[in-house]
Amino acid sequence: QANLNQLAKAAGKLYFGSATDNGELSDSAYTAILSNSNEFGQITPGNTQKWQYTEPSEGSYSYTQGDVITSFAEANGQILRCHNLVWYEQLPSWVSSGTWTNATLTAVIQAHIASEVGHYKGQCYAWDVVNEALNDDGTYRADVFYNAMGPSYIPIAFAAAAAADPAAKLYYNDYNIEYAGSKATAAQSIVKLVQAAGARIDGVGFQGHFIVGSTPSASSLTSVLNSFVSLGVEVAYTEVDVRFTSLPPTSAGLQQQASDYGSVVSACLAVSKCVGVTVWDFDDQYSWIPSTFSGQGDACLYWANLTVKPAYYTISSIL
Ligand code: XIL
Repeated sequence: QANLNQLAKAAGKLYFGSATDNGELSDSAYTAILSNSNEFGQITPGNTQKWQYTEPSEGSYSYTQGDVITSFAEANGQILRCHNLVWYEQLPSWVSSGTWTNATLTAVIQAHIASEVGHYKGQCYAWDVVNEALNDDGTYRADVFYNAMGPSYIPIAFAAAAAADPAAKLYYNDYNIEYAGSKATAAQSIVKLVQAAGARIDGVGFQGHFIVGSTPSASSLTSVLNSFVSLGVEVAYTEVDVRFTSLPPTSAGLQQQASDYGSVVSACLAVSKCVGVTVWDFDDQYSWIPSTFSGQGDACLYWANLTVKPAYYTISSIL
């Protein structure tokens, strides 16, 4: 069995990585694989750096749970993608249900980012600064931030993150921007908006939550990556999984899933400014899919029993 991160690095990428979460770290069979930096050279905390965990009430910060994941990665010599700072979901209610003006919410965002990015300063290769700001039709999501501040919350968040950790790469991260269309075009406008405001944006993260048989081809994925790179940013696949919409999978389905995972990895390999691929956990036992998409699943590279799927071998042969 090959080692995915080792192969990715030999192919010129910075990492092949995985998300994880605090509860899973007590599963020693799982951590035996996750901790192997030849397999996963990069870790993303799947939950515990989110706002609801890190600032549950205003001005009261808690990094204990996030630190468990960052310490795990550091002990194993793994790069960290830090996730995330400004997102409409998993907000504490004091933020999501607050009554805000442009000025009061600006101050709240700036304080949150100064504290969290400051706490993790020097530890994060990258931060997902703003996550999922767009609707699928390319309009801005009318969330608490947009409603109080309009699109200005986006460059304000990037500027705050840049001030708090000059070395971290600052990313915009979203889904359904992996293929051409109005949402991808709108994400390019976000890159330009931040640049025009004089703030720093270094990268765009393509979540890559795909469906077996409906994953874009490698060439269509590649051309969208290149359209972002031409704006002067790096790119990465940040949350990849390829789910079955009906279960259990057939053996033909597993071959299709392998080919879909292969398309994603091939696209990243084809673009030198694509720094790496992160799966949104590697094992079906800990995938977020079944609890979010009822009746769907088996989206990861490994089965729940920690044996690998055909997709694993396809990726290792492409890398
Ligand atoms: C998911 C986590 O995996 C779940 O455990 C949690 O209940 C909800 O959030 N896009 C993102 C991630 O950017 O933060 C989400 O993670 C999955 C979708």
